[in-house]
Amino acid sequence: MPCVDACSAADLDAEEARSFDQGGRTFAIYRNHQDKYFCTDGRCTHEEIHLADGLVIENTVECPKHSSIFNFETGEVETPPACENLRTYPTKVEGGRILVEI
Ligand code: FES
Repeated sequence: MPCVDACSAADLDAEEARSFDQGGRTFAIYRNHQDKYFCTDGRCTHEEIHLADGLVIENTVECPKHSSIFNFETGEVETPPACENLRTYPTKVEGGRILVEI
């Protein structure tokens, strides 16, 4: 799997998210409360809203539209109305950059 350079690790504070686009797709990158980084598909599985605009608490993100909560480490939906899990992508930090296997 090719690794994509998503952004600088310093671009994200703890419990923050940002989006990045690659190959016509949108992804979301998260930094959790323990300074670990994760990546999922960028849009909510309910109505395609950008999850990077949502509230990040520990390992979860809350969709800004109807408040579904997803665990971004596992991709699982924790709170409806979304019922489909998010796809997750292996993520690592090297040389201060966040690299994602897409
Ligand atoms: S668009 Fe995300 S929960 Fe409805």
